[in-house]
Amino acid sequence: MGAAVVVVGTHWGDEAKGKFVDLLAQDADVVIRYGGGPNAGHTVIVGGETYKFHLIPSGILSPRALCILADGVVVDPDVLASEMDALEARGVSLDNLRISQNAHVILPYHQALDALEERAKGENALGTTGRGVGPCYQDKAARIGIRMGDLVDPHRLRARLRAVLPLKNALLTKLYDADPFDEATLLERLSPVADRLRPFVADTLALAADAYAAGKAIVFEGAQATMLDIDGGTYPYVTSSHPTSGGATIGTGIPPTGIGQVIGVVKAYTTRVGAGTFPTELLDERGSRIRERGHEYGTTTGRARRCGWLDAVVLRYAARTNGLTGICVGHLDVLAGFESVGICVAYQKNGRLLRDFPAGDVTLLDGCEPVFEELPGWPDDTSLTNATRFEELHPNAQAYVRRVEELAGVPAVMVSIGPSRNQTLIPPGVGAPRALFTAGRAAVSAQRRAAEVLPPRRS
Ligand code: IMO
Ligand code: MG
Repeated sequence: MGAAVVVVGTHWGDEAKGKFVDLLAQDADVVIRYGGGPNAGHTVIVGGETYKFHLIPSGILSPRALCILADGVVVDPDVLASEMDALEARGVSLDNLRISQNAHVILPYHQALDALEERAKGENALGTTGRGVGPCYQDKAARIGIRMGDLVDPHRLRARLRAVLPLKNALLTKLYDADPFDEATLLERLSPVADRLRPFVADTLALAADAYAAGKAIVFEGAQATMLDIDGGTYPYVTSSHPTSGGATIGTGIPPTGIGQVIGVVKAYTTRVGAGTFPTELLDERGSRIRERGHEYGTTTGRARRCGWLDAVVLRYAARTNGLTGICVGHLDVLAGFESVGICVAYQKNGRLLRDFPAGDVTLLDGCEPVFEELPGWPDDTSLTNATRFEELHPNAQAYVRRVEELAGVPAVMVSIGPSRNQTLIPPGVGAPRALFTAGRAAVSAQRRAAEVLPPRRS
């Protein structure tokens, strides 16, 4: 049996999950995007070349990894096709790309409804990415979605649209006073992109299940993050899927018991895009400095990200809820040069101390004041830029990582001091990234052995 390593974001997204997935993908046989859609923005820098992905798994840059868009992903065919064209133009092979026939398709009416719903919400708008992600998941749950297998079969597509379009048009025209979509025009518009994607649409459940049975190394590439999980996050300011590790295996062909390692990607500070409470937000010069140094502007929408000190209350919650076995700590370079840096270790509200994230009632977050621990900063000098080993980092930077580990309760398996592949350090005592697959396999086997010692049931 194989073993899977899940990579998840610990906060509100944009933690640089793509960078760490790319590193793991070098030793992986399969990389699976399990949720979200073109709302994600994953940047990978290799040899001075920058790649920005919204839908294609970051693993596509590894020649050996099979890259799967699983059932839980919502696919905008135009975004996917243009991402594929751009990769091919740069000489990246798409031979290893497969798209689940069960993945739902974002159609033009989903984008229209995303904008209309946001406008209708007025001051309660979420600040979505406007990519039609929420409305597409709504249709999936309402059982009126259109899937990739439908898109690439003209007869099925016509039949599905005939069933679904009247419902969508009634909503558009009667509720929002907007223009309806015409079936024939839509079919004509979708035909070329369906032709482009057809060769990549496959039974990915079978492909992944076979790879798992054959003992392959599998990576689940999370999009979004823990705080954006529709159940576990800061509802209603969340996305419409399950970015947490609990959502990873559904619709992929890999069972939950196949997860051997869960790695949380933590940024050395915290950011958020869109509306919603953000206790550690820095509205002063320090926040702007982080934003400028970290280029904290959305990959997907270009929006300025809100920036603040690391929220370790959220980190501890992310560790618990995802079952983290390790963390990757990124963006240490961005925080360099501050005299001191803060880590939020609790919240204070009405004179009461809240040590744990109030997941049971996230409305309690409103009005919470962060309680900071202050740590000495590290210089923006060659101890950072030239470091090739963790021990070469300034002692304060090392101490910061150690404190983050302590708060998360799990070890740091990788530390990033810049966006490129080679700006990654492995703390002493931790093996190369590929060791995560070995550790994962051991964990999966141990679980299996434990299950085997259960006494047989008498019938
Ligand atoms: P990556 O994978 C940061 C946020 C949006 C908005 C909310 C709902 O790059 O970490 P949606 O369009 O999903 O309905 O918007 O979720 N959001 C993200 N924020 N990074 C992302 O992905 C995000 N995907 C969605 O800003 O607040
Ligand atoms: Mg993003």
